[in-house]
Amino acid sequence: MTGKLVLSVTGLTVRFGGVSAVSDLSLRVDDGEIVSLIGPNGAGKTTLLNAVSGFLALNAGTVAVAGRNVTGEPPHQRMRLGIGRTFQHARLLDELTVLENILVGGYSGPRRTSFVAEWLRLPWMMHRLCQKRAEALALLDALKLSSLANVKVGEISFGRKKLVDLARALMTKPRLLLMDEPTAGLSEAEIERLVGVIKQIRATVAILLVAHHMKFVANVADRVVCLAAGRVIAEGPPQEVQTNPRVLAAYIGTA
Ligand SMILES: Nc1ncnc2c1ncn2[C@@H]1O[C@H](COP(=O)(O)OP(=O)(O)O)[C@@H](O)[C@H]1O
Ligand SMILES: [Mg+2]
Repeated sequence: MTGKLVLSVTGLTVRFGGVSAVSDLSLRVDDGEIVSLIGPNGAGKTTLLNAVSGFLALNAGTVAVAGRNVTGEPPHQRMRLGIGRTFQHARLLDELTVLENILVGGYSGPRRTSFVAEWLRLPWMMHRLCQKRAEALALLDALKLSSLANVKVGEISFGRKKLVDLARALMTKPRLLLMDEPTAGLSEAEIERLVGVIKQIRATVAILLVAHHMKFVANVADRVVCLAAGRVIAEGPPQEVQTNPRVLAAYIGTA
């Protein structure tokens, strides 16, 4: 289904006090696409992801998901509409097991109904829970983490926590997955595993990710967008952007 617009950001501006972290930025991600954001520290990459997922208010611009304007919608509403995200430092509950953490991620929040209605729904809810559990176990299998299903998250490595966080995000079946620095803190072996996982899931979800690891970016991204000082300074296939003189200059701070 490549070619269908899944994310459209137009004229996005986010200011902190007097400083513009992102200025008049426009960006699109199509279905089936993997887009990588690169750029020096402070370029506005995390701010852009936070604005898209609804964690930050915009000063100007619009965010649309699959043609629907979500500007001003809260994060949980955007999640329902298909935006999933992983965090640079996985936000998991150390006291719960890997499987429990993933199930919590797949729970889309309370609905307001009466007690009787809930009681009548009980068999259906039990059925849903079994279904969710099966989905979570299948995801763990795909990520080769099955052996950790019943281990407490507090006991697993940083790299594995990031994979569990990815599984948690995938439980909501997003159309667009936002990943902030998924390779940060991972070993080369873990990065290779992440590349494998991304190639596996790319048929079902478009991805907008932030990464500094150039080999990883070249391996997974269809398109690279380079930000500097809150603006897009280059865009195109990985090899082209990575050798662009403006991009190289931005990294050594002369742009
Ligand atoms: N919560 C905040 N309050 C004030 N300034 C912020 C905040 N978050 C980010 N900034 C500033 O916005 C700019 C962009 O930051 P950020 O989006 O984190 O960059 P990146 O992820 O590309 O390193 C930086 O100048 C940063 O100092
Ligand atoms: Mg950042």
